Amino acid sequence: MGESVKIRYKGKVIDLPVEEGVMGEKGIDISTLRKSTGMITIDPGFVNTGSCKSAITYVNGEEGILLYRGIPIEQLAEKSTFLETAYLLIYGNLPNKKEFDEFQNQIIHHTMIHESAKAFYDGFPPNAHPMAVCSAVVGALATFYHDSLDVRNKRHIEISIHRLIAKLPTIAAFSYKKSIGQPFIYPCNMLDYCTNFLHMMFSVPCEVYPISSVISKALDVLLILHADHEQNCSTSTVRLVGSSMCNLFASVSAGIYALWGPLHGGANQQVIEMLQTIYDGGGDVKKYINKAKDKDDPFRLMGFGHRVYKNFDPRSRIIKKICDDVLNKLGIHEPLLQIALKLEEIALKDEYFLERKLYPNVDFYSGIIYKAMNIPINMFPVLFAIGRMPGWIAQWKELQEDKEFKIGRPRQIYVGPPKTDYVPIEERDG
Ligand code: CMC
Repeated sequence: MGESVKIRYKGKVIDLPVEEGVMGEKGIDISTLRKSTGMITIDPGFVNTGSCKSAITYVNGEEGILLYRGIPIEQLAEKSTFLETAYLLIYGNLPNKKEFDEFQNQIIHHTMIHESAKAFYDGFPPNAHPMAVCSAVVGALATFYHDSLDVRNKRHIEISIHRLIAKLPTIAAFSYKKSIGQPFIYPCNMLDYCTNFLHMMFSVPCEVYPISSVISKALDVLLILHADHEQNCSTSTVRLVGSSMCNLFASVSAGIYALWGPLHGGANQQVIEMLQTIYDGGGDVKKYINKAKDKDDPFRLMGFGHRVYKNFDPRSRIIKKICDDVLNKLGIHEPLLQIALKLEEIALKDEYFLERKLYPNVDFYSGIIYKAMNIPINMFPVLFAIGRMPGWIAQWKELQEDKEFKIGRPRQIYVGPPKTDYVPIEERDG
């Protein structure tokens, strides 16, 4: 008999089992609560609610630990590649050489999108946000691939995985090309994943853009750092949509939209816009720290704070280092970096931020690196989405394979009007 928690209610004692994870974290299993008491639990924002058991990613917010399938993020950032990390997340182990070659080969050979899909881009206005375009085109992939929509068919899932990882960079780069009025650049199978994306972004038919290996390597590490983060907003969205047995394209399309919000993956765009505003206004960093602390001011220090990390975000440390490295190697003096460093320095000594355990998160420095790579600001969240794709896929696949699979369907406490009779329009006031 394992550990349990007892609840006393109306003279009855209800025994609720305690589940323990491999790292010692515990959760009370309340799945029988409503049946035995008639009550549900309320937890706005799911601050205390576990939605699943997962073997993919471990986050310890107090100690600043992030593991993918048990492997520390620091080791993966140093030694792995994005595609190898994608394999690890999706299939649960590091691939051997044969497995990796096969996986990579599949990704390389699925990078093109259907020629008819290019017509979508003519329908979007040129100033469309690329997150909206990417989500729409990813969702529309389901219209082309009827051969891979059965969520209980392993082969269908497999080919959808390859298509999504391979095609998102193409879809993303096409959205940028359309917005600046340049022709689409087709993927080049001789290039590695990140170099290929940069090639599609920056080459033109009359001139191939030389891609610096410093930049493509830095991008690869950034994608690794974004690849999964357990049950965050967009991942939970992907799982919830997938729980209706909806196909992978539609589930991931919903995830891209969830990621777009400024409190989630849209924060990297907001950080640069905030730093630029501070810089343009003369660099008064203290003014913005005070604005962030003022409860009557809706302003928040973007790139600061995290629901889970209450110590530091291990990804932000690695990103800060990459940022220094990339700017040094490219010989770029970035005034926004100076503003960011000042903000961090002041915030990390300020009682308001210390008390609330608000530290720089993954988005604080990533935008400065993207800017150095000449990536336009509205594409920053798209890069987050390209990085997060393996995580969404791994989590969706784990859900579909879960023996306890159930459609997701939260409950609520109703606080609207009590039962009221319909009033005909001629009898209504006013
Ligand atoms: N600037 C100023 N105050 C903040 C900030 C911030 N960035 N973040 C949190 N706070 C305050 C908040 O006002 C509240 O204060 P009080 O207790 O006095 O009411 C307290 O800290 C707790 O905040 P919360 O909103 O209850 O915390 P949360 O866990 O619900 O929100 C968050 C987490 C990431 C949404 C929030 O910290 C935030 O809005 N940060 C800025 C946006 C951002 O950088 N998002 C990227 C997150 S990391 C990438 C990802 O995974 O998406």
